[in-house]
Amino acid sequence: MFLEKMLQSQGFGARKHCQQLIKNGAVQIHGETKTNPKEKVNLQDLSFHVYGEEFLYREKVYIALNKPKGYECSHQATHHFSVFELFDDVLYQRGIQCVGRLDQDTTGLLLLTDDGQFLQALTHPKKHVAKVYQMYTADPVTDAQISQLEQGVELRNETGSFAATDVQRLAENHLQMTIHQGVYHQVKRMLAAVGNKVDQLHRYQIGALALPELEEGEWIYLTAEQIEQAKYRDVFK
Ligand code: URA
Repeated sequence: MFLEKMLQSQGFGARKHCQQLIKNGAVQIHGETKTNPKEKVNLQDLSFHVYGEEFLYREKVYIALNKPKGYECSHQATHHFSVFELFDDVLYQRGIQCVGRLDQDTTGLLLLTDDGQFLQALTHPKKHVAKVYQMYTADPVTDAQISQLEQGVELRNETGSFAATDVQRLAENHLQMTIHQGVYHQVKRMLAAVGNKVDQLHRYQIGALALPELEEGEWIYLTAEQIEQAKYRDVFK
């Protein structure tokens, strides 16, 4: 691949801008400054420097973020921060998207990617992977509420019934459950439908991928194994 095209694919801006970076002597590969934008580069295990900062070539990026409260999953956040503010410009310019959405006040595992097929595989209505949520509730969770959640509840303006699996009471007001769809405010609406209320919501797992050990606001690139784990349609523990 031409050097200028490689830089463009990694989020360094438009082709013209990448050409300029190269001509300015800002780009080095294996310690050698590259000045020809049309030089062919081997992408295999490629690492390169731009203005002294090291980057690894990645065909696509797959990111796990521990989403903090007060961040929206939209690009033009109006009342809160945007989760995209947690990433640098180079990553942002690759066009990363959230894989599904979390509410601004929900914390936990949020995946982001620039791989449209991966995004589709995880969010297509017919293929929704399992997602595990933990929540603190306003009132103690009763046995009746747990069995209603397992049997399925109706949600206004949605067709069909919404059931949770693997519903576990972790403490009086602390519940864990797995859902298999992803409609708007689904967990909060399911809890409201059984007469309780979610006070604090946290996504703990997607498919077989549990939230890695990250501080709120921290993120990592997923390994090939973690990418596969996130695609499992059932939860493996
Ligand atoms: N269900 C909700 O109600 N909110 C979320 O953020 C995710 C699932």
